[in-house]
Amino acid sequence: MKIVVIHGSPHDGNTLKLAKRFEEIMKKSGDVQFEYLTVRDMFISPCRGCFACITKGEEFCPLKNDDTKLIIEKMDHADGVVFCAPTYVFNTPALMKNLIDRLAYLGHRPRYTGKYAVVISTTCGVGLKESLKYLSFGTALAWGFRLSGTLGACTHQYNCDIRSQQMLNNRIVKCADLFFADLSRKKTEPVSLGEMMRFRIMSLHSFYSKDTFPADYRFYHENPDSAGRYYIKSAQIPLFARIGSGLLAVIAGRSMRKERDRSCGSPQFLDW
Ligand SMILES: Cc1cc2nc3c(=O)[nH]c(=O)nc-3n(C[C@H](O)[C@H](O)[C@H](O)COP(=O)(O)O)c2cc1C
Repeated sequence: MKIVVIHGSPHDGNTLKLAKRFEEIMKKSGDVQFEYLTVRDMFISPCRGCFACITKGEEFCPLKNDDTKLIIEKMDHADGVVFCAPTYVFNTPALMKNLIDRLAYLGHRPRYTGKYAVVISTTCGVGLKESLKYLSFGTALAWGFRLSGTLGACTHQYNCDIRSQQMLNNRIVKCADLFFADLSRKKTEPVSLGEMMRFRIMSLHSFYSKDTFPADYRFYHENPDSAGRYYIKSAQIPLFARIGSGLLAVIAGRSMRKERDRSCGSPQFLDW
């Protein structure tokens, strides 16, 4: 099986070391090939903020011919993906964030439904939770992946006693085993209620804002073979989950609107 590792550190340091250990342990389970995509060695122009990829479609991005396409191709052909980046100032480093910004449309139109990912990060002491959460929820899950696990390590000398080393080792073994089992499974796992709800919310959003987000509308409603129809087509979803998730999505949509109004006042268009 082929694993692509997206490595977002500005140097080959602790996080790469952890990823390599993960590779070493996972290879004990069977035939696994790891390919490392080192973001700092790739040509990825900063996002220009035109919003075209999200609204009109990724083909309208003005930044053509850089390595984001290659990264997409590699993820398309991989059996699993590892997102691996350290914690810099409570989050993922700018290099990785730049790549995530360039692929922001994947959060609207998830391309990797049914695929599995693992998230790896390291920290000196704090912020690990935030960076793992960002790479898990803001990236892997948002792009449609299922998470086999997250792996975090604290690299401060203070934590390097034998007991914490053993605990980390156990966590790596557990995560590698889970990833291997997820990738080896022949039958696709049933769609979860959470996945179904995310799909419903996005699908509802694209229905009500089809003039602003035509690419999302096409993805969820027009093309019957689009990945956006994945959940609807999936026969494993019981009727009650389809109906229940629809109702829950309406409630969640309302509460998201309330939250938006609370945090930024009533919606305004800056048209002065
Ligand atoms: C610019 C920068 C910012 C950092 N910010 C944090 C931080 O917010 N919290 C923390 O505990 N460690 C922080 N660290 C330490 C790194 O997270 C830690 O050393 C990590 O293992 C580095 O991984 P790397 O060698 O793969 O880059 C920071 C290090 C750098 C260089």
